[in-house]
Parts: sequence; C-alpha cells; structure tokens
Amino acid sequence: MELATARLRLDALRAGDAEALFGYRADPGVCRYQGWRPAALADAERFIEDQSALAAPAQGRWFQRAIRRRDDGVLIGDVGFCLADAQAEFGITLAPAAQGKGYAREALHALFDWLFGELRVHRVHASVDPRNAPSMALLQAMGMRKEAHYRESLLFHGEWVDDVVFGLLVREWPDAAGKGAGIAALR
Ligand SMILES: CC(C)(COP(=O)(O)OP(=O)(O)OC[C@H]1O[C@@H](n2cnc3c(N)ncnc32)[C@H](O)[C@@H]1OP(=O)(O)O)[C@@H](O)C(=O)NCCC(=O)NCCS
Repeated sequence: MELATARLRLDALRAGDAEALFGYRADPGVCRYQGWRPAALADAERFIEDQSALAAPAQGRWFQRAIRRRDDGVLIGDVGFCLADAQAEFGITLAPAAQGKGYAREALHALFDWLFGELRVHRVHASVDPRNAPSMALLQAMGMRKEAHYRESLLFHGEWVDDVVFGLLVREWPDAAGKGAGIAALR
C-alpha cells in the first residue's frame, strides 16, 4: 500500500531506513508513551525485516508504513494499523524535527481515507496515555471522539498508566469515499 499527500508519501519501510528509524524511535521524548522501544539498531533492523514479510495488511498483525517527505524521500516517521474484523487500531510517530508542522494530521488524513474508502473499515481507534498532550491534541484534531478513560489499566514499562481510547466511525469521516482530501492512492 502506498499513499501520497501534498507533502508526504506513505510506503514500505526499507532496510536503508533502519538507522533513521532507530534514531527517532529510541529518542526518550518520542518513545516515552510507546510500547515498542528499540534498544539497539538491530531491533530496528529486525522490525523492518518483519514488516517486509507482510505484503498486505492482515487481520491481527500491525502493518507499518514509512512516512517520507515527498520532495526528498527523507524518512520522518511511521504510521501503523492493526485490523480486527472491520476495525483498525492505529498509531503514529514522528521524528522530533518533523513535529509541529501538521505532518501527522496529513498522514492520518490519507490513512483514514484509505481505511474507510478502500478497506471499508467501520471504525478506527487509538489508545493514548492522557499525559501525552500532542497525541491527545492530534486525535481530537482528527475529529475523533473520546470514548473511554481506563484508570491505571495498563502496566507499561513497569508503571500502571491510564489509557484513553479515541474512536471514529466511518459515517463521521467527511471524506469516507476518499474524495476531497487531496490524496491519490498510488497502489
Ligand atoms: C503524536 C505526534 C505524532 C503528534 O505530532 P505533531 O507534530 O504534534 O502533530 P501534527 O503533525 O498534526 O502537527 C500539529 C501542529 O503543527 C502545527 N502546524 C504547522 N503547520 C501545519 C500545517 N500545514 N497543517 C496543520 N498543522 C500545522 C499545528 O498548528 C499544530 O501545532 P499546535 O499543536 O501548536 O496547534 C508526535 O507528538 C509524536 O510523534 N509523538 C511521539 C510518539 C507518540 O507518542 N505517538 C502517539 C501514538 S498514538
């Protein structure tokens, strides 16, 4: 699956991305609220290798795409989703230098268009630690509704943390048919 937006391209992670991926995914400010934290470059290499084995999204498997700047191809982040029947949980990560520029909103817009329009997903959802302010703001900016706040429901890197769930239904997505979002599905 490859998607393009005005400024971005979402496509497969490649072996040559390992160093950049490790660079931002291991950054303490980036991985603080995330389950996967690569401890060494080899973890990033293995992650990309595992993803390379997945030709298409499969039920119950996280399917991760690179987020690249369209003009120079530089890897600036990654976005992934996991299908369970007609629902998709997603997560997104940007390198620190790429944050605050609207790239996450742009990438998610393309992803939602594709999930709702092409894959006919009924609901998308994400789980976030309420202390993760940029992530809470992003999900709200995407028009998602706060559906639940579970108190200290996840044991996360040795700490009991709250889990807030945001969801969005296909009928609530203004561009459910993939129209009007300025994206083109490349493949
Ligand atoms: C969560 C995360 C992806 C959000 O990234 P982000 O850069 O804050 O989000 P966006 O790309 O949508 O950028 C929005 C900001 O860019 C600004 N912006 C600048 N140019 C913009 C443009 N052309 N369009 C839209 N917004 C723009 C917005 O005003 C907004 O700033 P504000 O928050 O001060 O209002 C990022 O904080 C991150 O990678 N965190 C670490 C990983 C993580 O915890 N992920 C959560 C998993 S769900």
